[in-house]
Amino acid sequence: MWRQLSGVARTGSSLSLCRMRGFSALVQDKALVDGAWVDSSNAKATFEVRNPANGAVIGKVPNMTVADAQKAIDAAKQAYESKEWRSLTAKDRSNLLKKWHKLIEQHSQEIAEIMTAESGKPINESKGEVAYGNAFVEWFAEEARRIYGEIVPSASPNREIIVMKQPIGVAALITPWNFPMAMITRKAGAALAAGCTVVVKPSEDTPLTALAVAKLAVDAGIPKGVINVVTTNKAAPIGDLFCKSPDVRGISFTGSTEVGKLLFRNSADGIKRICLELGGNAPFIVFDSADIEKAVDGAMASKFRNCGQTCVSANRFFVQDSVYDKFVGQLKKRVEALKIGDGQGCDVQIGPLINEMQFNKVSGFVEDARSKKANIILGGQPLPDKGSLFYAPTIVTDVPPSAQLYSEEVFGPVVSIIRFRDEEEAVKKANDTRRGLAGYFYSENLQQVFRVAKRLEVGMVGVNEGIISAAEAPFGGVKESGVGREGSKHGIDDYVDIKYICMGNLKYD
Ligand code: SIN
Repeated sequence: MWRQLSGVARTGSSLSLCRMRGFSALVQDKALVDGAWVDSSNAKATFEVRNPANGAVIGKVPNMTVADAQKAIDAAKQAYESKEWRSLTAKDRSNLLKKWHKLIEQHSQEIAEIMTAESGKPINESKGEVAYGNAFVEWFAEEARRIYGEIVPSASPNREIIVMKQPIGVAALITPWNFPMAMITRKAGAALAAGCTVVVKPSEDTPLTALAVAKLAVDAGIPKGVINVVTTNKAAPIGDLFCKSPDVRGISFTGSTEVGKLLFRNSADGIKRICLELGGNAPFIVFDSADIEKAVDGAMASKFRNCGQTCVSANRFFVQDSVYDKFVGQLKKRVEALKIGDGQGCDVQIGPLINEMQFNKVSGFVEDARSKKANIILGGQPLPDKGSLFYAPTIVTDVPPSAQLYSEEVFGPVVSIIRFRDEEEAVKKANDTRRGLAGYFYSENLQQVFRVAKRLEVGMVGVNEGIISAAEAPFGGVKESGVGREGSKHGIDDYVDIKYICMGNLKYD
């Protein structure tokens, strides 16, 4: 999985992986509501989808309105209550998910090509994401059959306590551009396995992957209205509708902490189930006992996966005094060797940033660090010859705590390095943030491994590992990085209600 998830493997990539076949029949120009491919009700309004590598328009999709989103909620509600969905057994739902999984596998090359075209992600990474995203469909196909209840011994002789799990109903899934497929399947796989129906609102930057994957769900025989996809470039009013609608019982969101807080606040009145996978500020600590070569490998994978546009990307590198020069020297060589370009190129490891807003954020953070006397030892500038959204892989050392690079998530190809003296200082600095998604450290000292793994205030820890995501593992954060867990057996929890049935007055004699 490491190699699948990371485009920055040491040995480079295989030529045969990157042959692009052109756009497929999977590319849709309509949204999916109640099993029909539909236009926007606002005079068939559309918005353009562009390739961030060159600005070319690669598709147009409906710019759906709040009224259209309401129709999608109505369809999901109707489907939830329909016999076609409600009467299915867990095994039936599992089989439908297995069929979806199979179709995604068969179309993995096409989905990866669409993903690269709209997100700029290097093609080998897109192929990795399709495999990773599809692992959630497979995992939840299996978990569908294991949503067990309980029979609890009662304190009364004539009672039985039965606990069962039931689907919550309609779930709204709001997904980001950085993992255009996996963030949908990680949510929808769990929701469908539990017996819920969904309305997906994909990012406006990457709706084509979402629609392609939804098309395969339809082809797999998932009943109409069970999966709806609403494309829009006006997310706020539709997000608000999800929060306010009494028919939406749960919201799952992956994206910025600011938007997550807004959704949390706005859905309070409806006491909705809410799962938030928000931003991080991951520390990456290299202790003096670390295997430096492994640490550099991990740093490359964690930092440069998807051009650094990953919530679990290492954001602040803390390196112990005695290994500082060795680590920084080796890392610099590796970063200098990265191949930058249009993600369709077969050996490309670093593509463009997704959009102008992201580009301005990354360059703004670097300029802020420069103005605060940090040292930019590599990169530190845009690459206009490659395209308007390309930014050079950058290493900044001596980053002061006052710099944005220190306190906020850069979401770009920038390594920020800070020197430390001892374990206490490293852990204190690592935890000095309101975010707590992932954290990484490299150490060959067993005592230190357990000490530090326990003390890091994060939801996920990579010990001597730079890539930790897996369908089987619970993904999620602490502090302001979110609530709830996705993937693993815990990924189902946000989509089920626990019901207690008290069977009374039983006569056993
Ligand atoms: C994210 O960046 O939001 C998800 C990353 C992952 O699943 O590994």
